[in-house]
Amino acid sequence: MRSDLLVVSAAQILTAPPGREPLLGPDLDRPLLIEGGAVACVDGRVAAIGPASEVLARYPEKEATRVLDASGRLVAPGFVDCHTHLPFAGSREMEFEARARGASYEAIAANGGGIRASVRMTRAASEADLTAAVALRLECLLAQGTTTVEAKSGYGLSLDEERKQLRAATRAGAASPVEVIPTFLGAHEVPDEFRSRRADYVALLAGEMIPAVAREGLARFCDVFCDRGVFTVDESRTILEAGKAHGLKPKLHADELADVGAAALAAETRAISADHLLHANDAGLRAMAQAGTVAVLLPGTAFTLGLPYARARDMISMGLPVALATDWNPGSTMSSSMALAMTLAVTQMRITPGEAWMAATANAAAALGAADRLGRIAPGFEADLCLFDTPDYRHISYHYGHDHTLAVVKGGRLAWERTGTSICS
Ligand code: NIG
Ligand code: FE
Repeated sequence: MRSDLLVVSAAQILTAPPGREPLLGPDLDRPLLIEGGAVACVDGRVAAIGPASEVLARYPEKEATRVLDASGRLVAPGFVDCHTHLPFAGSREMEFEARARGASYEAIAANGGGIRASVRMTRAASEADLTAAVALRLECLLAQGTTTVEAKSGYGLSLDEERKQLRAATRAGAASPVEVIPTFLGAHEVPDEFRSRRADYVALLAGEMIPAVAREGLARFCDVFCDRGVFTVDESRTILEAGKAHGLKPKLHADELADVGAAALAAETRAISADHLLHANDAGLRAMAQAGTVAVLLPGTAFTLGLPYARARDMISMGLPVALATDWNPGSTMSSSMALAMTLAVTQMRITPGEAWMAATANAAAALGAADRLGRIAPGFEADLCLFDTPDYRHISYHYGHDHTLAVVKGGRLAWERTGTSICS
């Protein structure tokens, strides 16, 4: 049979075992590994994966439009970066330096810096400039093997400004091979003009902003920064319930700075994911496991801010679906690298290299409600995969500070190839 793209002679293919659910408990540490394998892609989807002899018997090389030679290389699913704040303008290297001199993230925020500084810069940017900035960031993600990215608003904090951010993310995504999944995060912070009347901002979010964003189809999820000094559990509940009423599934920035009970709220609202969780308590985590809420861990944030890392091992033992993401944003984590997130997860959270891969692909797709089409190299799934310059999956987290990506396939098309490499015939 004909194929649009055939990957042949892979030293190793890594993917999650067949299925459409996130991997839990011991299964997280059981990636499927195929030595000397091949993958056939037809009409943007994976048609076959397995030992080369089996795949090539059905999809011969001579009937392939394009063949990628993966000899000596690792083939793995494209990363699903399920938590970023991509549509931001400007940068905050001055805060990075201030923290090096001893200031804390919360103290900087309390003094008008932090998220509110990015709000000022993002409001000042035109929609065209913001779209161009996101487009550049998507190129950067693609070149590192990320084929799907979630992108939160949250630096606008008014209906028009949040819309601007969401449109910029969506438009840049439409012009890029990387799939962009937008999330409304109007509850990222209380904007300056509402500082003395925060209840009015919560009412505005629930009564006007969320209905408009949902009506215009600008976001799939509604997120809230539920933490010390930001939104309380009660405020967050009001916002998330309003989102649900308008068809936006809940997500949460939960218990990053302190244990405020946000993990339990995630379970109560049946959030698709609760993210950060550095201080989440056991009862909240158990409730999340019961509710099937994905725990999205963002080790780059703990690394940047010098905070304690999330208790990944406990979460895995409790049966929580654990995912990894970068949290790319200009404040707490200026990193676009899923490979670095995996290195930090392995070295600082004591998860294994195989677990890190599953968390960064199949389980990350589950955090976006897309575990049935993304994050796996499996028949029927979207053909999103990468070739890396190593024959062993463990090297991606083990050999850090080096970009191993050689080629990226998105939807069955060669979307990016390292200059100077020729793997295509
Ligand atoms: O996920 N925690 C809240 N939001 C971001 C930080 C945003 C910022 O500092 O600009 C985060 O870490
Ligand atoms: Fe975040």
